[in-house]
Amino acid sequence: MERRAQFATRIGVVATTVGSAVGLGNIWRFPYEAGTHGGGAFLLCYLFFIFVIGIPVISAEFVMGRSARSCILGAFRTHSGGRRWDGIGYCSILAAILILSFYSVVAGWTMEYTVESVAGHLGGVADAGRHSEFDRFISGWRPVIWMIAFLVLNALILLGGVKKGIERVSNILMPVLFLILLAFCVNSLLMPGASDGLKFLFTPDFSAITPGVVLGAMGQAFFSLSIGLGCMMTYSSYFSDRTPIVKSATTTALLDTLVAVLAGVIIFPAVFSFGMEAEAGPKLVFEVLPSIFSRLHGGEVWSTLFFFLLVLASLTSTISMSEIFIAFVCEEFHMSRRAATILLTLIAMGLGTLCALSFGPLVDVTMFGKTIFDLFDYVSSNILLPLGGMVISLFVGWRLDRNTLTSQLNSNGRLPRWVIVWLLISLRYIAPLCILAVFLAS
Ligand code: PFF
Repeated sequence: MERRAQFATRIGVVATTVGSAVGLGNIWRFPYEAGTHGGGAFLLCYLFFIFVIGIPVISAEFVMGRSARSCILGAFRTHSGGRRWDGIGYCSILAAILILSFYSVVAGWTMEYTVESVAGHLGGVADAGRHSEFDRFISGWRPVIWMIAFLVLNALILLGGVKKGIERVSNILMPVLFLILLAFCVNSLLMPGASDGLKFLFTPDFSAITPGVVLGAMGQAFFSLSIGLGCMMTYSSYFSDRTPIVKSATTTALLDTLVAVLAGVIIFPAVFSFGMEAEAGPKLVFEVLPSIFSRLHGGEVWSTLFFFLLVLASLTSTISMSEIFIAFVCEEFHMSRRAATILLTLIAMGLGTLCALSFGPLVDVTMFGKTIFDLFDYVSSNILLPLGGMVISLFVGWRLDRNTLTSQLNSNGRLPRWVIVWLLISLRYIAPLCILAVFLAS
């Protein structure tokens, strides 16, 4: 039997899982979700979900993936001894395809903005002009071309294989990303009126916590941590037996949260400093930030760096969500990695085209009042991922063999007993009940 590929180093493990978690979710989605859901109130709920549900669910995914050493379907089959849980595996694969489709569209926007910034086209345009420029751009066909270009890039990295492709790329890109973000933070904090932005982000207005805010924050936590769809499960099937599971899960959650908060600290002071709209929605980063950059010294350089960073962060995330599908078809249908990558890329290009056009020619095609783009995002983030997270918690908490659970959690023999007890309580009761409560309330 062919030996399953493994990540070479511990740094590689952290860099790849953080690389998966950190992406457009932190830098594009978190600020706009926080902006439309009241700032501090949203952040508070988000932090609750990250720490109370997120860390246990990542740990649960790691336990299942590493002990089964297979994709999400195989992991459920190995641990349950049957095919009864296949449905949840198929839901996860569907979620991964939906996310890849709309995510590649936004990643495509960032490629257009990177190229435009290099060409100096973002500087010096008045706000009104820029707004209509963005609307014109997303309502045309160019986003389709960029989405396709992004997916081709994604496929090329995936074809490099687990160790050579994903690990090497992540190792180089992640530290660069942190450095650039830090530079932006300093820059934003020095703007006049920065404190209003910080107040908006860090002072929760408790009366603003509605079921919608809570559901949004939960969806954002799952999306941002890449959990609930077997992404972390698939990655952990490449972990070595000695990788400490709880420590890796906690590191991933902390670094991911740090990046989201940094993104907020970059964006809100700037938004308030220039008297702009925090509620701009998905357009926030693409409309507000370039306007801000154009008023800075060396705005084109800032803008190029920022959008280039977004492209990189997107790639390390899309290669991880692609891996869910690729591991599945390779294992289930004995397809070659190459054929699986090409198949996924073609499917995502088809669905991605629908998403890209839902800001233009397909804007009137709606379901439940949502465009195709919004529907893909809402269904995957707010429904499929939390549902997947709930099933994974219940499965690992109640169904998984207890010896497997403790030996996986404590693979280096140094985990205090209370951590295992706490994780078990969280997986059995707290996480599933919280998710259920949010679903019922909203
Ligand atoms: N966590 C990624 C982000 O925040 O951008 C998005 C993501 C990656 C979601 C991988 C799901 C996934 F499987």
